[in-house]
Amino acid sequence: MIDPPRSPLLDALLQRYRLAFGTERPPRCFFAPGRINLVGAHLDYNGGDVLPMAVDRGLYAAAALRDDGRILLHSLDQDLVVEVDAAAIQSRTRPEWGWAGYPLGVWHGFAQRTGKALGLQMVVGGDLPIASGLSSSAAIEVVTAIALDALHGTQIDRQQLALLAHRAETGFVGLRCGIMDQFASALARPGHVLWLHCAGPRWEHVPFDPAACEVLVMDTLKPRALAKTGFNERVAQCATAHELLRVHARDLPHLAQYTLADLELAREAMDEVLLRRARHVVTEMERIRAGAAALRAGDYAGLGAQLSASHRSTAVDYEVSCAELDAITAAACAHPAVFGARLTGAGFGGCAIALVRPGASSSVARLVAERYSGQFGAPPAFDLLRVGTGPGELRGIG
Ligand code: GLA
Repeated sequence: MIDPPRSPLLDALLQRYRLAFGTERPPRCFFAPGRINLVGAHLDYNGGDVLPMAVDRGLYAAAALRDDGRILLHSLDQDLVVEVDAAAIQSRTRPEWGWAGYPLGVWHGFAQRTGKALGLQMVVGGDLPIASGLSSSAAIEVVTAIALDALHGTQIDRQQLALLAHRAETGFVGLRCGIMDQFASALARPGHVLWLHCAGPRWEHVPFDPAACEVLVMDTLKPRALAKTGFNERVAQCATAHELLRVHARDLPHLAQYTLADLELAREAMDEVLLRRARHVVTEMERIRAGAAALRAGDYAGLGAQLSASHRSTAVDYEVSCAELDAITAAACAHPAVFGARLTGAGFGGCAIALVRPGASSSVARLVAERYSGQFGAPPAFDLLRVGTGPGELRGIG
């Protein structure tokens, strides 16, 4: 159980629940956080390490079970209301289900795993910018998984709930993402970031000191229109690069385990694009080791340097940045109180993060807004995020 936020969001959620479903079945309320990833860009689906931090924003859900096999889903942020018979939910989402594909995918996986296929009525609402790289989709999956588990009293552990949420995204919705986002949300611990070794998966929690470093989120407001196709293309390219390395260098289970020397051995067999994709993955593993060591030592300048180097590699070798993200990170790094900056999430638009010395974020935001508007004609949006409390049921509600 976690304490409810002092946010007006919860009142709005409960009000909408009553409006939609009446008072006959009072809801229980749940929260799952969004995340930023400090270092480890596009490493999760390559069997590498990532260093996500669950933040103090995310997705809330007010939910109750129904005994008529109907699933009714409302969102505070989306007009689309979805009402569907449990029997109509097969292995894939449908275009007309829109955002509801995520919770329906989790419902489907949960029903398959437990054999429990009761109906559900749920309202969700969040305080994360949607589709901007802070993982609102993983948060909605994880909050649904936690809600279904609690409402059915199944006591499934958090790792299994994270995997259930992940399968909803890869199988039901069809984005071939790695496990980072769902694990970051489901396994978050207050005051810590998650150092996740995706190949295991194994993980450890590393303290993050909010008094030494703040996270300024800078939203380019550029929609991530190409994110799904571009993302799946990167996944496919990495798989091809891995195949070639297995033949021409050595046979290792994951692309992230190779070295630059291995890439040299396979250089002739790989085209230049594949080589750059693989080089990003291999060098990002070095950056995450250095970044995690810096974090453990409380060296936020050292951590920041790895963020900025990671951004350059995602821009040049992995090509998932864009002019807006390059400009916004460069503008932030021009401020003396910024330790480092990089895009977050899949890239292709959306948000970047800057690690900032506490107290300086307004001045950083002013500088970035001025430079960015000069170049793109409109200012970005900013948010100051804190390390969050982790997911769970909200105490004393319902
Ligand atoms: C998206 C995916 C994650 C991860 C990141 C890139 O957020 O959902 O699994 O691959 O991109 O690091």
